[in-house]
Amino acid sequence: MCGICCVVTLPSQHTVHHSFNADMHCCLRRRGPDSSQQLIKTASDLSYKCLFSGHVLHLRGVLTPQPLEDANNSIFLWNGEIFNGLPVGDTENDTEVIFHHLELCSNEADILSLFSLLRGPWSFIYYQASKHSLWFGRDYFGRRSLLWQFSDKIDGAFCLTSVSVYSESGNQYQEVPASGIFKIDLKAWATTKSLSLTFFPWTYSCSEKTAEEIFINVLDQVSKDLPNHIPLVMNESKLCLRAPVIPLNKTISEASDECASTNISDITPMASVETLQEFLAKGHRKKLVHQFIDVLNEAVKRRVLLLFRNEERETREVQSLSHGKAHVAVLFSGGVDSMVIAALADRHVPLEEPIDLLNVAFMMKEQAKQKGTTKKHTNQKIRLDLHSCPESCKETDAKTGGHLSCFDVPDRITGRAGLKELEALNPSRIWNFVEINVTLEELKEMRQQHINHLIYPLDTVLDDSIGCAIWFASRGEGSISKQGEMKPYKSPAKVVLTGIGADEQLAGYSRHRVCFKKYGLEGLNKELEMELGRISSRNLGRDDRIIGDHGKEARFPFLDEDVVSFLNSLPISEKADLTLPRGIGEKLILRLVAKELGLQASAVLPKRAVQFGSRIAKLESNSEKASDTCSRLKLLSVDEL
Ligand SMILES: *[C@@H]1O[C@H](CO)[C@@H](O)[C@H](O)[C@H]1NC(C)=O
Ligand SMILES: *[C@@H]1O[C@H](CO)[C@@H](O)[C@H](O)[C@H]1NC(C)=O
Ligand SMILES: *[C@@H]1O[C@H](CO)[C@@H](O)[C@H](O)[C@H]1NC(C)=O
Ligand SMILES: *[C@@H]1O[C@H](CO)[C@@H](O)[C@H](O)[C@H]1NC(C)=O
Ligand SMILES: *[C@@H]1O[C@H](CO)[C@@H](O)[C@H](O)[C@H]1NC(C)=O
Ligand SMILES: *[C@@H]1O[C@H](CO)[C@@H](O)[C@H](O)[C@H]1NC(C)=O
Repeated sequence: MCGICCVVTLPSQHTVHHSFNADMHCCLRRRGPDSSQQLIKTASDLSYKCLFSGHVLHLRGVLTPQPLEDANNSIFLWNGEIFNGLPVGDTENDTEVIFHHLELCSNEADILSLFSLLRGPWSFIYYQASKHSLWFGRDYFGRRSLLWQFSDKIDGAFCLTSVSVYSESGNQYQEVPASGIFKIDLKAWATTKSLSLTFFPWTYSCSEKTAEEIFINVLDQVSKDLPNHIPLVMNESKLCLRAPVIPLNKTISEASDECASTNISDITPMASVETLQEFLAKGHRKKLVHQFIDVLNEAVKRRVLLLFRNEERETREVQSLSHGKAHVAVLFSGGVDSMVIAALADRHVPLEEPIDLLNVAFMMKEQAKQKGTTKKHTNQKIRLDLHSCPESCKETDAKTGGHLSCFDVPDRITGRAGLKELEALNPSRIWNFVEINVTLEELKEMRQQHINHLIYPLDTVLDDSIGCAIWFASRGEGSISKQGEMKPYKSPAKVVLTGIGADEQLAGYSRHRVCFKKYGLEGLNKELEMELGRISSRNLGRDDRIIGDHGKEARFPFLDEDVVSFLNSLPISEKADLTLPRGIGEKLILRLVAKELGLQASAVLPKRAVQFGSRIAKLESNSEKASDTCSRLKLLSVDEL
C-alpha cells in the first residue's frame, strides 16, 4: 500500500538527497499514488537532518496525507492496516489514530504496549522530536516491507524505505528484521558520531526469567546481519513487545483414530472427496473444521469489508447490477488455498460487486506442454514457435475441436475448473476469471523496468520466478470472457487477497513430506515453526513490494493473528496427515474446510507452487537451482538473457 521513507544525515555528510534519488521516489510513488509529500526536519542545534517522504494509497476513511506532524514536531509515517486491537471508526484514518496514541505515550514501555496491541500488517517510522528518537519496525510476521541502509562510513547517512532500487555502487539495502522494533537516539549519534540501535524484540512472555536466553538468541541473529560498526543493544530493563499470537502447540498426540478406519492404500484420486467425507463424519474433526471456518471467515470478512466503497454506493442507482466494479481480487490458481479464500470472500463482498480471480500463465514451450498438462494429446505433433506466440501456437485439436493454447498451463486449467465450482456455489455472483497471459518478451521488459527493483534485496532464482509471477498476476491486466467472447480487462480492485501462509502452517510443501519421513512429527513441528518464523524475510517483504507496486494492497487471511493462533493451538496431527497421499494429507484441515464449504475437486488438488503452475520456471533456463543467485535480476548489461 503506502510508500514510506526516511533519510537521516549528520552535518558532516553529503546532502540528504544523495540517498533519496529520483528512482527511489518513483518506486515509492507507485505504491502510494493518491498523495505524495516530503518534509525535512533539522534538529534545533543543527546536529542532524531528516527527510521524510510519504506516499499514500487511499483505502479507508478520510484520505490522510503523510508524513503527519504534531504540535511538538514529532513525525509519523505509517504503511499498514489496523484490522483489530485498537478501535478505528469507519470514518477515521488509522494513521491519525495511532499517531494520536503515540502522542499520549509517556515512556518506551507505553510505545511498546501500543504496538503490541495492533492486529494487522504494518511497518512504520516515528520521529519522536522531544527525545530525538527515531523508531521504526515491522509487524510480527513482516507483512509490510521495510528496508534499511547503513553507510559504511562511521558517521554516514542512515536510510529506511519501503522499496529501493538496485544499484551496483553504494551501500546495499537489507530487509529490516521483523523480529522486533528498533530505536535510534539521533542526538547520541550526532554527539558520539557512532550510530547505535536499541532493539525491542517480540516475545511470548516478557516477564519470565527464561526470556533472557531468547533475548540473547534474537539479539545475536539480528546483529550478525548488521555492519560491524553498528552495535545493537537492548534497553537495560529488557523491554519487549508481546507477540500477537500464541506459541505453536508441539504436542504429539496418539495416532489419530480416523486413520485406522481409512484404508490408506485404497485412496485413489477419485476416492479422495469421499475420503474427506469420512473424516468429516467424525464429530471431533467436524467441530475443529467448523472452528477453523469461523476464524478464517472473520479474517476474510475484515479484509474484504475494510475498504472504501462509498463511490460505488452513490452511483449504484445509475449502474446496472452487472456493471459493478470489483474492489476485491484473489490471486487465483484454482488450488485449495485460493478456492477457500474466494468462497469465503463471496459471503461478504456485496452481491452486485464482481470478484476478480487473477490467473497468470507464462507461455509454455512445446516440450513442457506435452509432458505436463495435455497428456491426452501427446501423440499429436504440436509445433510451437516461442517467439511468434500467441497467434501461431493456437492449433485446433482435431479430435476434440478444442483449442490448445501455449498459455494452457496447469494453473490455467485448474483455475478454469475452480471457476466452475465457484459459479456453482454462487451463480448470482459475477466471477471475473482474468486470464493473464505473459510472453517471454514482456517478462524480460517488465523485469528490467520494475520487477528486479522490487525483488531486491532478495536475489535467488526462486525469488525471481515467484516475484515475476505475482507481479503480473496482481497487475490484473488480461482478458475475461463476456458472452462467450474474450475481452481485454484490467482489474480495478485495490485489495488483492493471497493464500500465502497456508502451506507454511499446514505442511503443504513437498519438503514437509521429506522432513516428516526423515524426522517424524517432532521434526515436522520444528520445520513448520522455523518456516513461519522466517516468512517475513523469505516471502512477505518481497510480495508486499511486488503487489504494492501496482498501487494495490496485499492482504493475507491465513496470516491473520486469530487464524495463526487457532492453528498454533492445534497439534500437527489435526492439521495434516502426511501418511496420506498427496492431495489429501497435506493441508488436510483446509481440504476439509473446502469440502464443508461445498467445494469438490479443488479440495483434493495437490499443491503446485506458482512458479511451476504458471510455468514461469520453464520459460527461461531449466538448469538453474531455485536457490541460485539469479543473474537476470542484475541490471548490469542491457540484455543479459
Ligand atoms: C483523520 O481522522 C481524524 C479522526 O477521525 C479526523 O478527525 C480527521 O479529520 C481526519 N484527518 C484528515 C486529514 O482527514
Ligand atoms: C508536547 O510536549 C509537551 C511537553 O513535553 C507535552 O506535555 C504535550 O503533551 C506534547 N503534545 C503532543 C501533542 O505530543
Ligand atoms: C529503558 O526503559 C526504562 C523503563 O521504561 C526507562 O526508564 C529507561 O530510560 C530506558 N533506558 C534507555 C537507555 O532508554
Ligand atoms: C477397508 O478395508 C476393510 C478390510 O479390508 C474393508 O472391510 C472396508 O470396507 C474398507 N473400507 C473402505 C473405506 O474401503
Ligand atoms: C490467453 O490464454 C488462453 C489460454 O489459456 C487463451 O484461451 C486466450 O485466448 C489467451 N488470451 C489472449 C488475449 O491471448
Ligand atoms: C495442545 O494440543 C493438545 C492435544 O490436542 C491439547 O490437549 C492441549 O490443550 C493443546 N495445548 C494448547 C496450549 O493449546
